[in-house]
Amino acid sequence: MTRFRPAIDALRAYAPGEQPPGGADVVKLNTNENPYPPSPRALAALGAIDAESLRRYPQPFADAFRRSAAEVLGVDPEWILAGNGSDDLLTMLFRAVAGTGRAVAYPAPTYVLYRTLAAIQGAPALEAPFDEEYTLPVDALADAGAALTIVANPNSPSGTAATIEQLAELAGRAAGVVAVDEAYVAFADGSALDLVRRNDRVIVLRTLSKSHGLAGLRLGFGIAHPDLLSGLAKVKDSYNVDAVAAAVGAAALRDVAYTRETVERIRRTRARLGRALAGRGFRIWPSQANFVLARPADGDARRLYHGLREHGVLVRYFDEPGLADKLRITVGTEPETTRLLSALADLAP
Ligand SMILES: Cc1ncc(COP(=O)(O)O)c(C=O)c1O
Repeated sequence: MTRFRPAIDALRAYAPGEQPPGGADVVKLNTNENPYPPSPRALAALGAIDAESLRRYPQPFADAFRRSAAEVLGVDPEWILAGNGSDDLLTMLFRAVAGTGRAVAYPAPTYVLYRTLAAIQGAPALEAPFDEEYTLPVDALADAGAALTIVANPNSPSGTAATIEQLAELAGRAAGVVAVDEAYVAFADGSALDLVRRNDRVIVLRTLSKSHGLAGLRLGFGIAHPDLLSGLAKVKDSYNVDAVAAAVGAAALRDVAYTRETVERIRRTRARLGRALAGRGFRIWPSQANFVLARPADGDARRLYHGLREHGVLVRYFDEPGLADKLRITVGTEPETTRLLSALADLAP
């Protein structure tokens, strides 16, 4: 008897971006965290956590958080399902929908976890290639006839976004469940949330990791018709959102003005970063996220990745076909961006 299922033996483990130890003097632009702290109201909610709420199990559906999210988004609480980061929602989605003979379709390259989760389920992964401009391959995805179609919008690592019309067309034509992973939507010009109201096969995924500066808290949620969420709820861990995350996350989500302000700062720095990189001869793809995909003029992204690392600047390098000549650079603070740009100036060939 082998120790693991064949699908697990064959699996290459998902490698998250490097997390240097706290206190290290590095500019960390490799995992798309928010460079600004979470809302002061979220920190106040953290300070107000009492012993009793730690002694007890949390509410299985994070009810108070669910109500806050519903209010902020203008939907009924039954249309919200919370999870331990949006990765947890992705796990539920793949567990409930994908499997042997039940394929998953997504454009590629995209968030690598989709491939991993499909492999864990033993589900065929139908990868529809983006073109050079990262245009959503609507026909290829719709014609795949998959049980689950998933689109990160804005996409990672390209930062580009499909239009809502393209997503609506895809949702109308796809055979099964359609998930729009909106991890970066706060930095974009539009959201697909409206599709959820019109189509009970569509789920939109959100996270507090990026726009709310709470990647360490682990809190995300899905918005969909209650019938779709009920299937996901069957496969979730019983207490998948802890009491601290639910309380802090609710306070953060309600502080809409703070989020708007920090997102606006990031969008301004994104514009500066794009202009500066283009000025240095990089090709830049139009980003709707809190990072930019950039190709150096000589295509030697690997050299720059290592060089930046030596200068104490971490960016993301994917040694994969189509990406090996590019870097994904998170938008940091203004001083972090200045440090990145001066390191790049040092490294210029
Ligand atoms: C497209 C996409 N979806 C989901 C996630 C996961 O976010 P979370 O921290 O909510 O699990 C990420 C994180 O990098 C992402 O890039």
